[in-house]
Amino acid sequence: MLIAKNDVQQVSNAMMNMLHAEEIEIVNNFHDAVLAKDIEKITELFEVLQYDIEDHFSTEEDMMEESQFYAAQIHKAEHDTMRGKVKDIQEDWDLNKNPEAVQEFLEGEFKKWIVLHVARWDAETAMHIGDTM
Ligand SMILES: [Fe+2]
Ligand SMILES: [Fe+2]
Repeated sequence: MLIAKNDVQQVSNAMMNMLHAEEIEIVNNFHDAVLAKDIEKITELFEVLQYDIEDHFSTEEDMMEESQFYAAQIHKAEHDTMRGKVKDIQEDWDLNKNPEAVQEFLEGEFKKWIVLHVARWDAETAMHIGDTM
């Protein structure tokens, strides 16, 4: 298991917590396939992960826009950086099919990023939005 449920903190918005729980489950399944070096499954679950990340980020961005969150631009810029990194690593996967490169990204950068991002940006955004959406 790459990310335990408790690694990512709860924020004060139920929708965001649901998005995070979903993403943890999907990324853990993906990580299992990466460890198993199951090329076909990795390719398939990469699509699922991409779709889920986009759903997670764009839902938060819509919520920020709707509630006019003051730091929406900075929060979105952090999402955009990670969107770019995931896209790069997926392009690298399509070319090289190297599970170690994906494993390194997940266990290093991605895990650290999601824990810190939720603690820093999602927590503050959730506080602003409240639990009404
Ligand atoms: Fe989030
Ligand atoms: Fe976020």
